[in-house]
Amino acid sequence: MRGILLAGGSGSRLLPLTLINSKQLLPVYDKPLVYYPLSVLMLAGMREILIISSAAHLEAFRSLLGDGGHLGLSLQYAVQDEPRGIGEALVIGRDFAGDEDVCLILGDNIFYGQGLPGQLREAARTLDGCAVFGYPVSDPERYGVAVLGRGGELVDIVEKPADPPSNIAVTGLYMYSNDALSYAEKITPSARGELEITDINRLLVEQGRGRIVQLGRGIAWLDAGTHDSLLEASQYVQVLQKRQGMQIACLEETAYRMGYIDRRQLGRLAERLSPGTMYGRHVRSLLRA
Ligand code: TTP
Repeated sequence: MRGILLAGGSGSRLLPLTLINSKQLLPVYDKPLVYYPLSVLMLAGMREILIISSAAHLEAFRSLLGDGGHLGLSLQYAVQDEPRGIGEALVIGRDFAGDEDVCLILGDNIFYGQGLPGQLREAARTLDGCAVFGYPVSDPERYGVAVLGRGGELVDIVEKPADPPSNIAVTGLYMYSNDALSYAEKITPSARGELEITDINRLLVEQGRGRIVQLGRGIAWLDAGTHDSLLEASQYVQVLQKRQGMQIACLEETAYRMGYIDRRQLGRLAERLSPGTMYGRHVRSLLRA
């Protein structure tokens, strides 16, 4: 399975922060937002990852993450010249996927918690068509919402319903079997000219090839698309990291724990990080463990 990280969009709800900056490079407490979804793909076992962003910001992502070799990854980059919808990531990433399945994650979604890597690996192993990841929310009318059958199976997805059929939001994390990628070309763009990911998923659900994986209570799902949610995400990360003395989405640690880099490589990465930061101290502490 290969990963696609979609980090374009207009970020209009974060203006003026996003006048010249990419939303996904804004800080969430002590690291850029993009670290969080990237660490999720890494934890799910992916090493070949395509990062998609606008022409204006793609070089900044490349400067930050390079070819990924230092983290034991192979990163590639592609431009989405206009925000023509999340579904377009599957079209842009078609060649990159080759004959492999794909996991798509939105660059402003933060997932964190116990059992997440296992749930993702299990979903990848049993994938046939598409898998979406559901999360209970108090305000489902703001999201794509899952319509569930009696046995909890996915029957449909409705976008921003006035009268939500459930409290299960569809998060910004999706998996597609290789053959399902062609569905992105079967749908027509919305009135706004966007390829809606929900339309692609609905088509697969209609054919009995869409399933939902409910993320457990121990998992946090945050998005950072508004000023308040960006601040709240920072506060969440700050509280947890300080309380537990660990790091959320420390890429060097994830690469090391996943076996993508060895101790010697971790040592080299640690040298580049300041011992004056909790992040730097944390990476150094892994070398002593
Ligand atoms: P949104 O939050 O729906 O859109 P946005 O980022 O453009 O922000 P705003 O609504 O404030 O204008 O997008 C969710 C994620 O998907 C986000 O990480 C940006 C990304 N995205 C793209 O990369 N390309 C797109 O065409 C769209 C619609 C979103």
